This record gives sequence, structure tokens and C-alpha cells, in this order.
Amino acid sequence: VPAVTVRVGFLGAGFIATYHAWMLATSGAAASMAGVFDPDRDRAERFSRDHGARVHPSVEALLDAVDAVYVCTWTSEHRHLVGEAAARGLPLFCEKPLATDLADATDLVASVHRAGVVNQVGLVLRDAPACLLVRSLVGDPDAGRVMSVVFRDDQYLPVEGMYGSTWRADAARAGSGTLLEHSIHDLDLLEWWCGPVTSVCARTAQFHPHEGIEDVAVGLLAFESGATGSLTSVWHDVVERPSLRRVEIFCERRWIALEGDLTGPVRWQQRGGPAVAVEGEELSDELARRGIAPRNPDGAFIAAVLSGTPASPDLATALRAHVLADACYRSAASGGAPVEVGHGAT
Ligand SMILES: NC(=O)c1ccc[n+]([C@@H]2O[C@H](COP(=O)([O-])OP(=O)(O)OC[C@H]3O[C@@H](n4cnc5c(N)ncnc54)[C@H](O)[C@@H]3O)[C@@H](O)[C@H]2O)c1
Repeated sequence: VPAVTVRVGFLGAGFIATYHAWMLATSGAAASMAGVFDPDRDRAERFSRDHGARVHPSVEALLDAVDAVYVCTWTSEHRHLVGEAAARGLPLFCEKPLATDLADATDLVASVHRAGVVNQVGLVLRDAPACLLVRSLVGDPDAGRVMSVVFRDDQYLPVEGMYGSTWRADAARAGSGTLLEHSIHDLDLLEWWCGPVTSVCARTAQFHPHEGIEDVAVGLLAFESGATGSLTSVWHDVVERPSLRRVEIFCERRWIALEGDLTGPVRWQQRGGPAVAVEGEELSDELARRGIAPRNPDGAFIAAVLSGTPASPDLATALRAHVLADACYRSAASGGAPVEVGHGAT
């Protein structure tokens, strides 16, 4: 008998688990907060008080008590936790990056496909109104072909401030630095907006004293369409500055810019037209005008679990972004030589 309310469990009770708990609560989805496990007992208890989830003493005890699981631990734990959840046939939501490197990410996705479970990844920008509008503006035939894209992403090294996570300075738990941990979102957005990448050249640098954690990554991307793009990703020390992206996309007959991460403004100008800027609440109206309904991705995950239909974006989507990140790291390791990227679904 299918469950009417999905009992959701959380592995990890930190920053992003709290975000998903809040998103679930505001989604109106038929989900109950059934449990949490975090080896940091204080965190688990705080999460339990704030969200009503029962604290479980182990991963196994949690998995026994839930219908679906969120994997919200630091990155190095994702592979084995996803493997355990999938082996039990549990639908799962896994945070990005999937794993600390491409090999583990590939294994993780294989375990989920073998189990055939509903799966979704935390590539949350695909549901951000500003990013949805950029996709609509780029995809509009009036814009013409994409010629070039300039993508800049900067954030303070997230071991301080609201993130306060020392694991992000530890390559064993994070895998690597700003490109994998943060700009995996950007690699995903670049293909989502502009189509498949065929080749990358990249450079990385490290200013902070954290072995294996690059805090600058710069990539030059060749798209199958003939477009060329650049991505610059930086982790600095300006803690007063929020995480910010700035993207400019030059199409043949339209210029498009995204400022800020989630709420714009999005600006554009079409040949023969005025300069337009849309931000905040106006973004929903603009999306509605274009027939695009924003969704709550956590609510959509629960709906997919209930109906047993595929969720999106799924883990295979994130694996593609891992392929791009891995190509950038290989290029950087060789001093910036081009690395070809095979075709992948976007
Ligand atoms: N989608 C996004 O935009 C986004 C944003 C932030 C973080 N993330 C990702 O989410 C993950 C968690 O990041 P965070 O910011 O929440 O970190 P965090 O440090 O705030 O929380 C991680 C928690 O995982 C716990 N943990 C470690 N091993 C565990 C295990 N085996 N079982 C259960 N819990 C375990 C830790 O004790 C810690 O409390 C990372 O992979 C990160 O890259 C994604």
C-alpha cells in the first residue's frame, strides 16, 4: 500500500539539512519529519527541536524508520550513505557534489541506477527564478545563437560565517575546493543554458594554506554550438560579501545578464529594444508571462516519491557536472592544456 505521507529522514543535520527541512515545511508536501542522524549529537538534537524529527542513534536505525532519505552530510560520506539507502530501495535526495571525485560519483550513480530508486540532487539553482528566466531568454529564437558567456562566481571561503564548516578546508572530506564544492552549480547551469561543452582548458590556484583546496579556478569552455565561455570561481576572505554570481551571455541579437544568485536582477537588451531589468517579486510575473511555473524542488521530490515517477534534477544530471569539473582539474594539472569532454545528457 503506498504511503500517503512520506516519512522523511535526514542524514546530516547541518546547514543544508536545515534548508531542506524549511523548504519541505513551506512546500505543503505530504511529508513528515520522521528522523535525523548526525554523529554530532548536539546538531541532531537542535535539528530535532527545530523541525520535529526524532533523533536516531545510527544510520541503520534511521533508514529502518523512513520512506525517503536526504543525504546532507559532508561530501565524502555521500557515496556509502547513498549506497546503503539505495540497497534498501529507499528514494533519496543527495546533495551536490555527489562525491569527492569523478570515480566515486560514477559508482554512487551506478548504485542508485541498479536499485532503480527515485533520486534527486541539490542542484537548486535550476529552480531559482532568476536562473529559469535566463534559460528562457537564451532559448528564445529571437536572441539568435549564443556567442559567448562570462560567468563569475565569488564567495568567502566557507569555513567561516554562516557556513562555519571546517570540512570545506579538508580535501579528504570535501574532495577539492571552489570548483567542485561551489561551482559545480555553475558548470551545470552553463550546459543547462548553453548546451553541451566539448572541450575545456583550466587553471587553478591556491592562496589559503589548505592542501588540495583550490581557491581560484578559471575555465575556458568550448560549446558544441560554437559558443565560447569562461568561468571564474573564487573563494576570498571578504566575509561581509554574500555569495554572488554575475553572468553575461552574449547572443547574436540579445545581451543577457544575471546579477546576484537567486533573485536577480536579470537584465537584457534585444536588438532594436530597450534595456530591461527584472528582479525580486517581478521575476515570478515575468516567468508566468512566459508560461514557466516555478516549483519548490523539495515538494517536487516528495511528489515524485509518492507517484514513483522520476525526480529531477537527478543524480545522473549531477554526474555530468562532475565530468566537466574533472576535465577542468585534469586540464589545470597539465598547465591548462585542452581536455576533450565526451557527450552527455544535459
Ligand atoms: N545545494 C547547495 O546549494 C548546497 C549548499 C550548501 C551545502 N551543500 C552540500 O551539502 C553537504 C553538506 O553541507 P553543509 O553546508 O550542510 O555542511 P555542515 O557542516 O553544515 O553539515 C554537515 C553535517 O554532516 C554530518 N555528518 C558527517 N558524517 C555523517 C554521517 N556519516 N552521517 C550523518 N551525518 C554526518 C556532520 O556532523 C555535519 O553536522 C555538502 O556536500 C555540501 O557540498 C549544498
